Order: sequence, then structure tokens, then C-alpha cells
Amino acid sequence: MRHRIAVFASGNGSNFEALAAACDDGRLPAEIALMICDKPGAYVCERAARHGVETFAFSPRSYASKSAFEAEIAAMLRERGVSLVCLAGYMRIIGPTLLEAYGGRIINIHPALLPAFPGAHAIRDAFDYGVKVYGVTIHYVDDTVDGGRIIAQAPVPYEGSDIDELEAMIHRTEHRLYVDTVARLLNN
Ligand code: GRF
Repeated sequence: MRHRIAVFASGNGSNFEALAAACDDGRLPAEIALMICDKPGAYVCERAARHGVETFAFSPRSYASKSAFEAEIAAMLRERGVSLVCLAGYMRIIGPTLLEAYGGRIINIHPALLPAFPGAHAIRDAFDYGVKVYGVTIHYVDDTVDGGRIIAQAPVPYEGSDIDELEAMIHRTEHRLYVDTVARLLNN
């Protein structure tokens, strides 16, 4: 069975790309039914177009409230029969409206070994701290910031001093772990 998933992203979209490629070549038994982007013009929109994935790019400022755009998104997800929402660099906290509609079916990827280094600058924070083992976490989304139940983690050992090299290593691990974890969730 081919599941229908949605990906939410705000920027570059390399994790979107990893999931889309895995859908295209059959490693994921899924189709990305919708890509949601809160930054019209973000590079992830070009990636979605290249994969023929329907995109809803919106400006939060043009809505009266978070619950207004989240209600519209929840309706779009339901209409398309989406069973799993994958946040992939979506730089916005999921509010009660979406959590009520899709709670327990929204997952997020974070570039650190939670609960260490939550927040938007996890790689830089861990690097400045001087950790020797970095990593990636995939977790359920609840009403806390990066605090939902952990589904999977992968370590990234690194003792060098080049943050660009480190970021590239972490992103490679993210792409592999996200595809493997979504496959595992869908197959169960
Ligand atoms: C990733 O590091 C992800 O873990 C974090 O945001 C970044 C998104 O990167 N939540 P990309 O847009 O998928 O390239």
C-alpha cells in the first residue's frame, strides 16, 4: 500500500529531497501528497516542483491567526488522506489546531541528540560546547519545543574543528535516518 504523507519545510529542503527521492525510487512505500511551506520562494518549493509534488506555500502574516492557517492546512491534509506529517526544517511551532487534528501523527527531525541542544541553532550550540559525539533525533511533535517522545536517534562522532564539514556529516545522517524511520513507521 502506498501511504500518503506530507512534508512541512521552510528553507533549503534537503530532507524533503531525501524523502521525495526515496518515494520516487520505492525505498518508501509512500507518496508526498503535499509540501507545506511558510516561506514562499524558499528553495524547497523548487525541489517540490521538480518532483511533481503539490505545494501549499503561504505567508503566515496574511492570516488573522496561527489557528486560521493551521485549520486550512488540516483540511488540506484530510482531503488528501495524509496519514503522517514529517516536519523537515519547518521553523514554526505547531499549534493546538494542528495538534488536535493530527496529534500523534506529526514527527520532526532535529540535528542533535535530544534532549541535549534543543532549539534553532543546535549544531552551532553543540559545536561551541565542544561535544565529541553529535547526532540526529527523530521525535513525535507535541506542545513542547523539541520535547516529544523520541522515535530514533543516530550518533555522529566528530572531533574536528570545521563546522561546515560537521554540518555536512550531520545532514547526511539526517537524510538516511529520516528515510529509514519513516519507512519503519509506515510499515508498522
Ligand atoms: C535540518 O538540520 C533539520 O534537522 C532541522 O532543520 C534543518 C533543515 O534542513 N530541523 P533542510 O531544509 O532539510 O536542508
